[in-house]
Amino acid sequence: MAEAAPGKEDEFRSTNQTAFVVGHTGGTGLALVEELVNRNIFQKVHLIGRRKLDKHEGDKYSMLEQKIVDFEELEDYAHEFKGHSVGFVCLGTSRAKVGKEGFVRVDHDYIMKVAELAKSGGCSHFVLISATGADRNSSLLYNKLKGEVEAECADLGFQRLSIFRPGLLIAEREESRITERFFRVLLAPIIHFKPTLVSVPVETVAKAMVNIVLEPCDEPVETLDNKNIHRLAQGTWGRES
Ligand SMILES: NC(=O)c1ccc[n+]([C@@H]2O[C@H](COP(=O)([O-])OP(=O)(O)OC[C@H]3O[C@@H](n4cnc5c(N)ncnc54)[C@H](OP(=O)(O)O)[C@@H]3O)[C@@H](O)[C@H]2O)c1
Repeated sequence: MAEAAPGKEDEFRSTNQTAFVVGHTGGTGLALVEELVNRNIFQKVHLIGRRKLDKHEGDKYSMLEQKIVDFEELEDYAHEFKGHSVGFVCLGTSRAKVGKEGFVRVDHDYIMKVAELAKSGGCSHFVLISATGADRNSSLLYNKLKGEVEAECADLGFQRLSIFRPGLLIAEREESRITERFFRVLLAPIIHFKPTLVSVPVETVAKAMVNIVLEPCDEPVETLDNKNIHRLAQGTWGRES
């Protein structure tokens, strides 16, 4: 897959910006961290989460700093969100794992608190993973919550907000996820014959999340559907849907 033109990367790198990633231990987050390290466009990347990963220690990862926070007391960690120009958020859980309340707590409350702290900490470009079907008016909790978070993030007035709406994420995971496995089986023929239609590998999402930072900004809020995530990762994104 193509990457952004080297000129764009060099130009961005020369501006010495820093970024934070929340959700770096998950499927998309892990892929994003690899992409950020390999592309090396930021001077520093802070990984903000509830646990440290040994994987991210060592020479290859010297541009990273791991910061442990308590998401229930995120206000106490406001300083961790200060001074980063770009914030990437790959946070999320599932109702199956933590029940309805836990799901709302993480996928809405934690994400919104991160967004608020990022905004007041000076973040100018907030890059959020949402999901296909996000719609604040939906009767489905998942789609409704994703839609609400999108709208509330937009209301915060970031200079730039990039919302990614991937379809089914394709990730090699240590844990077994019944819903994800179910959809992978159900959608297997489409995933095989039309790989950009309903699914996307986490590595593709990660590449697109880094490429978006290098793209000029036409609108303060941009929403990328599954097809455009694939296109942006390949460097052929034209902004039309
Ligand atoms: N799965 C799909 O097919 C799919 C499709 C479209 C959109 N999405 C959305 O895409 C986003 C990323 O998905 P993913 O599959 O890459 O995520 P994931 O692998 O489930 O990782 C989620 C991240 O959130 C963190 N997290 C979860 N619960 C937490 C809690 N209570 N406190 C603090 N951190 C917590 C995890 O930290 P730990 O590692 O410490 O648990 C991890 O870093 C999610 O918002 C998801 O809803 C998913």
